[in-house]
Amino acid sequence: MSDLRERLARDLTTARDRTLRLTDHDEPELLRQHTPLLSPLVWDLAHIGQQEDLWLLRRGDARRPGLLPPDVEALYDAFTQPRAVRARLPLLPPVEARAFGREVRGRVLDRLERLGADDDGDPFDFAMVVSHEQQHDETMLQALNLRVGPPLLAAGTPLPPGRPGVAGTSVLVPGGPFVLGVDPADEPFSLDNERPAHPVDVPAFRIGRVPVTNAEYARFVADGGYADPRWWSARGWAQRCEAGLDRPQFWGVDGTRTRFGVVEPLPPDEPVQHVTSFEAEAYAAWAGGTGVVPPGARLPTEVEWEKAAVWDPAAGRRRRWPWGSAEPTPSLANLGGDALRPAPVGAYPASASACGAEQMVGDVWEWTSSPFRPWPGFVPMLYADYSAPFFGGDYRVLRGGSWAVDPAILRPSFRNWDHPYRRQIFSGFRLAWSVEPSADGG
Ligand code: AVJ
Ligand code: FE
Repeated sequence: MSDLRERLARDLTTARDRTLRLTDHDEPELLRQHTPLLSPLVWDLAHIGQQEDLWLLRRGDARRPGLLPPDVEALYDAFTQPRAVRARLPLLPPVEARAFGREVRGRVLDRLERLGADDDGDPFDFAMVVSHEQQHDETMLQALNLRVGPPLLAAGTPLPPGRPGVAGTSVLVPGGPFVLGVDPADEPFSLDNERPAHPVDVPAFRIGRVPVTNAEYARFVADGGYADPRWWSARGWAQRCEAGLDRPQFWGVDGTRTRFGVVEPLPPDEPVQHVTSFEAEAYAAWAGGTGVVPPGARLPTEVEWEKAAVWDPAAGRRRRWPWGSAEPTPSLANLGGDALRPAPVGAYPASASACGAEQMVGDVWEWTSSPFRPWPGFVPMLYADYSAPFFGGDYRVLRGGSWAVDPAILRPSFRNWDHPYRRQIFSGFRLAWSVEPSADGG
């Protein structure tokens, strides 16, 4: 228990340091709303403390008084206060938001010290709160990326170079049963929607060795892919027309892109970022339909994605990470948020999964074709409205985590979701192909 308490204390502190760094700006800056899609940073700052107060100091019982007066606390309810209106609310000024967060955290750390002794709480709830804060840190990075004006963040830390020959290639994932999802016994910090582990049969398929790159995607743009409804789903075409999309978000017309306020040449070997799932599907149809890649290219399902990431067919079991059991390091995956961009494809040969898929973890969230649904046997966690209200809604699942995700909250079973038409998130994709069973049954 003391190891667990130490790990949780460390993860809480890492998350808070990151939150405070991302919000270390003057008051007008924190009050700015860069897009109706995202909150002003000062909202995230206090919302993080409000959720921590609710889940860890009141154990989820909203009828108990919190540290904020009820009318102030109500401003930070994500369900009743849509993102678009948050800048117009009488929010706590940054100094007060920080003091509130500090007060909550002090009491939480006191509780954590007594956990397993005179505190009968569940360590999972602390990990859940870490995940919540880290996820908001990524959301704040999305807001800062949309911010107009001289850059606020430094250029980003160095990344390993890519390697040639991997873009556009694919690997085979043999057919057969596989264990989808995880159990708390193996992954105690897995969130409700990742559970329980259960066998599923997945026919053979191929999946991209790496995500689709900017250079590959640029050919689709240059070939008139955005003007040809043949490559788009009916809904995707309607959305493309209505939103006036003609290239990924943040791309210029001149081979540049804007990233956290810096205009720079588009790096050809980086995974394409900031595409909707409709754009990803259209790319797949175009690439498979024009002979750029083998015919039948599509997005993977999330089940295929997870099998390609963790299934070891020789051992007949899951790996903890694509490459094995070692925790992620900077030579295995681009995580943690300091790079401020994805790494070029081929940068992590040691990250290969059993079937040979690389960069499954980190770099970009990868769109899948799957709607967000519960696994059979789903049981909501303490934060019961984290997943369940979104099941069956207009959402698609993204997998693998982006460069902005902290490794402490990520697992290959982690499921993210968003509307199919969103692209301010750090979203990319890789391709997949169904494989016809061979005549000899092999
Ligand atoms: C899992 C990223 C879709 O940002 O809406 C934060 C995470 N849930 N606070 C979101 C979340 C509640 C969630 N996503
Ligand atoms: Fe939240």
